[in-house]
Amino acid sequence: MTLVDRPLIQYAIDEARAAGIKEFIFVTSRGKSALEDYFDHSPELESTLRKAGKEDLLEILKATYMDSGAIAYVRQNRPMGLGHAVWCARRLIGNEPFAVLLPDDVIAAEKPCLQQMMEAYEETGGNMVAAMEVSPARASSYGVLDIGEDMGAIVKAKGMVEKPKAGEAPSNLAVIGRYILSPKVLTNLNKMKQGAGGEIQLTDAIAEETKAGQVYGYRFHGQRYDCGSKAGFLQATVAFALARPDLRDEFSGYLHDMIALQKAAQ
Ligand code: G1P
Repeated sequence: MTLVDRPLIQYAIDEARAAGIKEFIFVTSRGKSALEDYFDHSPELESTLRKAGKEDLLEILKATYMDSGAIAYVRQNRPMGLGHAVWCARRLIGNEPFAVLLPDDVIAAEKPCLQQMMEAYEETGGNMVAAMEVSPARASSYGVLDIGEDMGAIVKAKGMVEKPKAGEAPSNLAVIGRYILSPKVLTNLNKMKQGAGGEIQLTDAIAEETKAGQVYGYRFHGQRYDCGSKAGFLQATVAFALARPDLRDEFSGYLHDMIALQKAAQ
């Protein structure tokens, strides 16, 4: 899915790179092979752009390049849940901390969200999830933190619940799709325990680490867009287009006219 002029996945990669990450694993499935080509080099296109003197487009193209061996793909054969998807990458991750980014959560921020988290993680270690307050009515769409100690930007969690039933959420602090995790979470996922919706939930595997006091939530600075929903994707499109100097004037004029037309029709 393209947000303004780049696929969502590119925003996630740019954010991870800004946080210093150099090696990437994609968990994919049938019908997603375009993803592999997207990050490969395109010598033909490159030479066409160079001949045409389109240096600006060349720069954009190069931002999609990955070094040989820096990118790997693993397949998830059946959609058994986010925890299962992460577990599929266990052999490639090995025994070291790793980050998980869910590209349908797009976060606009001055300092990229994962970089903010990395800085906080330097202090805490353990496991860290991005967190955001949501209205109580929306809590059952998320993983929700049970807050042990609230230190401001950082909270220590004493539990985590995936998609709590209405009225049963332990707080209104929801997990957003950025995680820095210890390999212990992968070991927890080996149990293949089914959770909310009958899926193997990443939240449950992280929650096990709260017993050891090793799970932190981080209230990031920035605006999150849920590009997994139609309304969220449209909001992101408008916000990102208005933030672009080359599109702002034309686009805001158009929006203005559209709203005026709609009001007149009412
Ligand atoms: C996933 C996670 C959930 C998290 C959410 C953030 O849910 O399971 O804990 O709060 O992403 O976007 P999904 O949106 O895939 O249902």
